[in-house]
Amino acid sequence: MSTPSKPYNFDQVISRASTNSSKWNKFAADVLPMWVADMDFAAPPFILDALKSRIDHPILGYTDHPASLNEAFQGWLDYHFGWNIHDTWQVWLPGVVPALNLACQTLEAGSEIIIPTPVYHPFLALAKNASLKEVRVPMRQVDGHWSMDFDTLQASVTPRSRMILICNPQNPTGRCYNEAELHELASFVINNNLILVSDEIHCNIILGTHAQHHPIQHHPIQHHPIQHHPIAALIPELLERTISLYSASKVYNIPGVSSAVAVIADSALRQRFINARKGLIPGIGPLGFVAAECAFRDRSNWIPELTQYLRGNLEYLREQLGNRLSPLEGTYLAWINVADQQLENAEQHFVHHGLGISPGAQFGEASHIRLNFGCPRSTLAEGLRRFKLALQE
Ligand SMILES: Cc1ncc(COP(=O)(O)O)c(C=O)c1O
Repeated sequence: MSTPSKPYNFDQVISRASTNSSKWNKFAADVLPMWVADMDFAAPPFILDALKSRIDHPILGYTDHPASLNEAFQGWLDYHFGWNIHDTWQVWLPGVVPALNLACQTLEAGSEIIIPTPVYHPFLALAKNASLKEVRVPMRQVDGHWSMDFDTLQASVTPRSRMILICNPQNPTGRCYNEAELHELASFVINNNLILVSDEIHCNIILGTHAQHHPIQHHPIQHHPIQHHPIAALIPELLERTISLYSASKVYNIPGVSSAVAVIADSALRQRFINARKGLIPGIGPLGFVAAECAFRDRSNWIPELTQYLRGNLEYLREQLGNRLSPLEGTYLAWINVADQQLENAEQHFVHHGLGISPGAQFGEASHIRLNFGCPRSTLAEGLRRFKLALQE
């Protein structure tokens, strides 16, 4: 993949007014939207170029799954995480949310699923969608870090418990679980004979705990102690009972060009997953295939430069918000404590001050709000100005 000759311009403010953007459509025009996990940056030019050359062919018909996509994804998993998977373990589909729902469809009706909260809100609709029972287990805060509460998790297990679903890096808290936590989770999963669903869609957006903002040109790539570990690679005993979910959509900012992949090593589980999709979940379209393959073949400086810019935004957030901000290790989603404000309707309160955030109640934790900082620094500065005004009232 060619490396661009000039650095990406993440400071550039690009109007999305003409694109019917879900992010920018949701609120009135004078409200700055900082909610859904969709960044206000141009997608990398190498992906846009690949899409343009596909469009040069004028027929966008039904398209078979290219074998080269599987190979590209295998190469990407190996390159970033040293995980070598079999070709046959991959099930491709148009999104991670459909994959989460299909994972639940592999269970018998009435089974129980365990969900540590707060969590990305579609997790909280899964049980109802699949006629299952949901058991929410609140995470706890240790030294300001959110982490799984294994005592309460164990206490939540019943004879009907079948599955636990997590996301890592965690949306909305920004945690990136460390090896010790993942090993403890693995013991919990194995001891209770559960299936683990691990949504790792944010796995390339690792910002570390002690990020400093330095101009990119002087410090090309910072070393950061926080790493993402695909849990099924880290703990081989989990492999046969895990569904791991990935997509290029977050780090390359192409969520509207739908594609995702489930890695399922166990053939029986994989077959149940595939059976559940039949007639319901379509395949990926030609543009989704092109964008995903191009992204998974990328070895350029896109990820280091993007994450470096996001680290700068995170540092700015820290300066402005102090310990309201939960320590963030991954994702571009800030989890901010507003408990002292005692807001009855957090979304409306901030909208009233011109800021569109995601209320914590949506994720199962009303004391916080989530703010998307995947945007130019000037946009973030304006968002934080509005945030502070909202707190003054
Ligand atoms: C943890 C997590 N999973 C899944 C998704 C959405 O995935 P998709 O658009 O592929 O359905 C998001 C988007 O914000 C997310 O944060």
